[in-house]
Amino acid sequence: MTSSATPRTDLPLTPPVIRPRRLRTTGAMRSLVREHTLRAGDLIEPMFVREGAGEPTPISSMPGVVQHTEDSLVAAARRAAEVGVGGIMLFGVPTTKDATGSQASDPDGIMNRAIARLRAELGDSVLVMADLCLDEFTDHGHCGVLDDQGRVDNDRTLVRYQEMALSQARAGAHLLGPSGMMDGQIAAIRGALDAEGFTDVGLFAYTAKYASAFYGPFREAVDSSLTGDRRAYQQDPANGAEALRELTLDLAEGADLVMVKPGLPYLDVLRDVAQASPVPVGTYQVSGEYAMIEAACAQGWLDRERAVLESLLAFRRAGATCVLTYYATEVATWLHDGLPAHLREFV
Ligand code: PBG
Repeated sequence: MTSSATPRTDLPLTPPVIRPRRLRTTGAMRSLVREHTLRAGDLIEPMFVREGAGEPTPISSMPGVVQHTEDSLVAAARRAAEVGVGGIMLFGVPTTKDATGSQASDPDGIMNRAIARLRAELGDSVLVMADLCLDEFTDHGHCGVLDDQGRVDNDRTLVRYQEMALSQARAGAHLLGPSGMMDGQIAAIRGALDAEGFTDVGLFAYTAKYASAFYGPFREAVDSSLTGDRRAYQQDPANGAEALRELTLDLAEGADLVMVKPGLPYLDVLRDVAQASPVPVGTYQVSGEYAMIEAACAQGWLDRERAVLESLLAFRRAGATCVLTYYATEVATWLHDGLPAHLREFV
């Protein structure tokens, strides 16, 4: 028998517990290691302006959001600018609609009048972005003009988009947001703008835009006349890879920024596009996402401020540089005025 010391039996046989919770122990520690934050300047507020409205009209499915009059639009945009919101994405609601959406490119139409008014009153203090699409202006509610069989005619629509783009650029829009999902729309619009000398007017391309049920409340917001759906031009919610194909095309055609829309249901697409894109990527927290949060909060089922901030932070985490959200001015106000302690953790 060899005589060796009695072996110790109290030595650890497994590695120590690794403790990620150490980085979560205090607010100061969590703040130190936080990866993503929200900034007012990254937020864009979609706003609606309605022709001939005497006062702001509430949108019942979007509590707190209104169709503005021209005056209330200016006041809301000024408030947004004061708290540092990065931009306004403007949608126009005309009183008369027709087959080609002629009001969309009329310099005296509601959209172009409102753009000019915003620029005259607010200058460059907030970016004035213009939705570039025909659906608010057509009597059939589609995003383009129709052929004799009732289908959206891609290339004739591009001509209307060019006319619309030039009218919006002349009115003073900083950025145009083509949202109609026609093939070749970025190239067509870029070409028209450059030919007329509007080289500084940028294009915020709706690159991956899905045929989504979450646009429901928006249809009320713009008094949409659509019957049917947009599945022949917007993307199939079942598809991810084609978002990257759309990205390649929009970049080649000259997009300055690209967008994924809707937001939360498409975080995977946002992540993929953000990783592949050399230009800034935005996302759009659409009307139905807003309505869901508001409906749950109205029932007392969610902590509203936390739910709003968490949803916006999710976009930043997935790779968004900027976010279109109906909460933009409200959240920017929270950030501007200083958040209560229990919300500070979000920024
Ligand atoms: C179309 C457009 C839509 C939205 C923005 N631009 C509706 C659609 O494509 O049917 C939806 C925005 C929202 O739901 O908040 N021009």
